[in-house]
Amino acid sequence: MKKIAVYTSGGDAPGMNSCIRAIVRGAAHHGVEVYGIVRGYNGMINGDIIPLNSQSVSNIIQRGGTILKSARSKEFMTAEGRKKAYEQLKARGIEGLIGIGGNGTFTGAEIFYNEFKIPAVGAPGTIDNDLYGTDYTIGFDTAVNTALDAIDKIRDTADSHDRVFFIEVMGRDSGYIAIQCGIAGGAEAVMIPENLTPVSEIVNTLEKGFAKAKSSSIVVVAEGDEEGNAQKVAQKIKGMMKAEVDIRVTTLGHIQRGGMPTAYDRILASRLGLGALEGLLRGEKNVMAGVINNQLVYTPFHDTITKKKPVSEDLIRMVEILST
Ligand code: F6P
Repeated sequence: MKKIAVYTSGGDAPGMNSCIRAIVRGAAHHGVEVYGIVRGYNGMINGDIIPLNSQSVSNIIQRGGTILKSARSKEFMTAEGRKKAYEQLKARGIEGLIGIGGNGTFTGAEIFYNEFKIPAVGAPGTIDNDLYGTDYTIGFDTAVNTALDAIDKIRDTADSHDRVFFIEVMGRDSGYIAIQCGIAGGAEAVMIPENLTPVSEIVNTLEKGFAKAKSSSIVVVAEGDEEGNAQKVAQKIKGMMKAEVDIRVTTLGHIQRGGMPTAYDRILASRLGLGALEGLLRGEKNVMAGVINNQLVYTPFHDTITKKKPVSEDLIRMVEILST
């Protein structure tokens, strides 16, 4: 394989640039020509494809976002869109692809391989950490630390004013961000889709805290929680509390997607980028590079797309024990 292309797709994640850098520098090391596709599958369809070399990725290892930009492409979901994308790659002699993203990215890459036989290897880039086949995804650690920083700050003001704060974090259908920053931030309760906690239980926890003279509390709510968003949960709980409580709601939102990647994310991204590249050059296809128990592994796209990565029961139990 002499010519490959890399793209970032779906929601951006801190560390994507570190991953692009590893792929480009790795390709130079192996004597492979590498192109960057701008705005994911949209750029593949429109021919927004640029040559990259070692210099193009200087000074990006520490930058948030993605120099290749990202998009969620509706057109690539159509057969005509994919045909156009294939023509663009064929015209440039591109023989293999590396997609950095999540489930949507890998679903697209698998369909594309089945139709046009262009092999692709994935690198897991999403703050949600919701991908089967890797212990951690690129961007997750940074997002948790960003959310944690905000939670620590909110704790200060919650304490000064004797308030209960409901803090909503991202994660789509996954509670990974919520559980980790809930534990690290010493939250009184965490609400995640994987462990359906009835609001009555949260009310009990908060009331037990007040009985012990606790005057402020933090409840971390995953955006995908079954009970609804933090605003709805807070309203329900306010109506159920025996005592009058001063409640506030904060939705952290896209701040969790930006910023300089942590050292952990830069190293993980570099390892997965190089791993994806070397896998592709060895003939791997339709797989995602991941790290499980500190070993580089390749998991079929089919499994990463269809299998659920559960939040550890151990972590869920820990919140319950340590919060009271
Ligand atoms: O998948 C990453 C993520 O940030 C999710 O946590 C969130 O649900 C979603 O993307 C937000 O998407 P958008 O940036 O399109 O609003």
